[in-house]
Amino acid sequence: MRKEIDMFRNFKMVSKVVFGRGCFDQLADILAPHRHAPSGFMVFLLDDVFSGSALESRIPLEQWDALIPVNVDDEPKTATVDALTRRIKDMAETGGKTVDGVIGMGGGSAMDLAKAVSLMLANPGSAADYQGWDLIQQPAVYHVGIPTLAGTGAEVSRTTVLTGPEKKLGINSDHTVFDQVVLDPELLAGAPADQRFYTGMDCYIHCIESLTGTYLNTFSQAYGEKALDLCREVFLHPTADADDKLMMASYCGGMSIAYSQVGICHALSYGLSFVLGLHHGIGNCVAFDVLGEYYPEGVEGFRKMMDLQKIALPKGLTAGLTSDQVEKMVDVSLVLEPLWENALGKDWRNTMTRDRITELYLKI
Ligand SMILES: NC(=O)c1ccc[n+]([C@@H]2O[C@H](COP(=O)([O-])OP(=O)(O)OC[C@H]3O[C@@H](n4cnc5c(N)ncnc54)[C@H](O)[C@@H]3O)[C@@H](O)[C@H]2O)c1
Ligand SMILES: [Fe+2]
Repeated sequence: MRKEIDMFRNFKMVSKVVFGRGCFDQLADILAPHRHAPSGFMVFLLDDVFSGSALESRIPLEQWDALIPVNVDDEPKTATVDALTRRIKDMAETGGKTVDGVIGMGGGSAMDLAKAVSLMLANPGSAADYQGWDLIQQPAVYHVGIPTLAGTGAEVSRTTVLTGPEKKLGINSDHTVFDQVVLDPELLAGAPADQRFYTGMDCYIHCIESLTGTYLNTFSQAYGEKALDLCREVFLHPTADADDKLMMASYCGGMSIAYSQVGICHALSYGLSFVLGLHHGIGNCVAFDVLGEYYPEGVEGFRKMMDLQKIALPKGLTAGLTSDQVEKMVDVSLVLEPLWENALGKDWRNTMTRDRITELYLKI
């Protein structure tokens, strides 16, 4: 069926993708054409969980490159992005050099930091000024994403999710999309089982929310169905190549929501993250667990996977919150209008009142 012209999205994709076990070792060759020696240098933002690891020692650092460990105990904040950008600009100014590229290595948090820093190296002001849709004016510095967890789809998305002074909201723009991603399933080995599950469920929930949403179209469906199958294989019938499948599930799940939207679970999860500081994956899991009424089959499948993977979700997370904190969570979730509309249709406000959202939050 033909849609109105202004509804078609001209979707910006990652320019280059390398996939396969061990492909990380091609990084030096991949970066080489983007180096402008002797005046340029690359910046590697490495999740500090890898400080001192074998992976760190395999990074193809050249003379002027900077390796900056980033801590992601808290999800990325605009203030952290601003501080990193300042630090890298200072390095460049002091050495009389320019930044050739920013490479983010880690889960969604480290990759989002790399995306945001690459944007802010080329745009004035604070990252908080650009939280929203298409506010970025100048193309980012060349940027590369190398996931060490799979599920968020941050490797393919046109957003970098940041918590600012006022809101948790992405910098959504075509310039945010990575120029290159390196998908090496071997880098997922060693992730703690619960974290691997929470992040993997981010992908599963992307698929459920996309496939049941009102924004669904054949592009999203094609990727969403494949990603959903892969998630089920990984968490219900794991085989030796489960990490390969999880990596491609994340990629396809990200592609699916890029051309549709997520839904209620993500809207609630943003509020949980803003007020309780819960990371995205676990926040999604605890929110999804109370959404059986909206996603009955999805929640049933989720519980099966949780049983099989022996995951116990924390309970009573909102019990001790003040009414102000609950109100804030509701506010944060309500900003995300397209998510509610995707889930419930154009008249979503008729059923999803502040009271109903509060009720859902209080079950978590
Ligand atoms: N840009 C997007 O499109 C998008 C989409 C969804 C989520 N996100 C963001 O992604 C983040 C969540 O990402 P995530 O779920 O990948 O987790 P994460 O990056 O927040 O990391 C979670 C934890 O796992 C650790 N870790 C990462 N890789 C590891 C490995 N291989 N071995 C051991 N520990 C490892 C990290 O140090 C951290 O402690 C949030 O900040 C969220 O806002 C972004
Ligand atoms: Fe997500």
